[in-house]
Amino acid sequence: MKRILSGVQPSGNPHLGNYFGAMKHHIEMQDQYESYIFIADYHALTTVRDPEKMKTSTLHLVLDYLALGLDPEKTVFFRQSDVYEHTQLMWILDCITPHGFLERAHAWKDALAKGKKEPTAGLFGYPVLMAADILLYSPDLVPVGKDQKQHVEIARDIAGKFNNTFEEVFKLPEPYIPESSALIKGTDGQKMSKSYGNVIEIFADEKKLRKQIMSIQTNSTALEDPKDPSTCNVFYLYSMFANKQEIDDLRNKYKTGGYGYGSAKKLLLEKIIEFFKPYRKKRIELANNLDYIDKVLKDGARKAREKSEKMMEKVRKAVGYVNNFA
Ligand code: ADP
Ligand code: TRP
Repeated sequence: MKRILSGVQPSGNPHLGNYFGAMKHHIEMQDQYESYIFIADYHALTTVRDPEKMKTSTLHLVLDYLALGLDPEKTVFFRQSDVYEHTQLMWILDCITPHGFLERAHAWKDALAKGKKEPTAGLFGYPVLMAADILLYSPDLVPVGKDQKQHVEIARDIAGKFNNTFEEVFKLPEPYIPESSALIKGTDGQKMSKSYGNVIEIFADEKKLRKQIMSIQTNSTALEDPKDPSTCNVFYLYSMFANKQEIDDLRNKYKTGGYGYGSAKKLLLEKIIEFFKPYRKKRIELANNLDYIDKVLKDGARKAREKSEKMMEKVRKAVGYVNNFA
């Protein structure tokens, strides 16, 4: 059975872009692959400076994944900071990674271009930690959004560099970008992203969800006139949830005229509420059972460490460390 591994940063409430672009695929893939999914809380330290926020965002992301169907019996699900080998391997990889690999990284270049105040060594070295995350588990595929493709390629280059310098220890990973995850558009028609404030959140309460949906930008075609579904953000989002018949019905209403965007938005709101209803219920149950969540994370960390410790032993041997931990 082929193996996949992916990580997600705990950085705010998940939105439809995160769901259709990443989480849904991670959850679906657990049935066909040996799966490793982790919460990248070390990576989050490049931006989060509030310990309470670190704790709650991590817990919330765990709840979100489990509520949406991630099954800890099928997926090794863990917190990055529970597995010491991630940062240990990072240092060793740091020492063989040419500076140039990291200077070329888009995320780093963007941070500099946007004039980020005090860009840190952690942000510069972000792809090396990501390489460590990946290489510890020898996955065949790393399912990520388009924006992370370059980071997986850097991990591949770092693995090659290590193998050439010492011995063949690491398997070269492949990024896997599902076609349907390419880009989910937000309420303004741009890429949906927390940083653009154009999101529709999966687990927002009804009032917030209504506000987010009502803010979807539409053109100024009058209520009585026919409308073009192919350029409408409301229609686009509705199509992601509705079945073929429902999509055809809405298309006809647009084309006939006499149907306003306000009505289409109401329809979309109902659809999204209905779609996530069972997940929402499950999330409430999980949030009331934190002992279970604790157990899931402990089991996940234990299973992850079985793999990561073995890999670290090989790495230590390859570079010439002969520590005896027994
Ligand atoms: P954000 O841009 O909101 O900060 P993240 O960078 O935390 O989102 O992304 C988490 C995951 O969700 C990544 O795998 C990313 O590729 C995916 N993702 C985020 N936004 C979208 C989108 N609009 N369309 C498709 N995938 C997305
Ligand atoms: N950098 C990824 C993101 O922001 C998260 C991540 C960290 C990751 N380590 C990883 C993804 C390893 C895949 C594999 O989305």
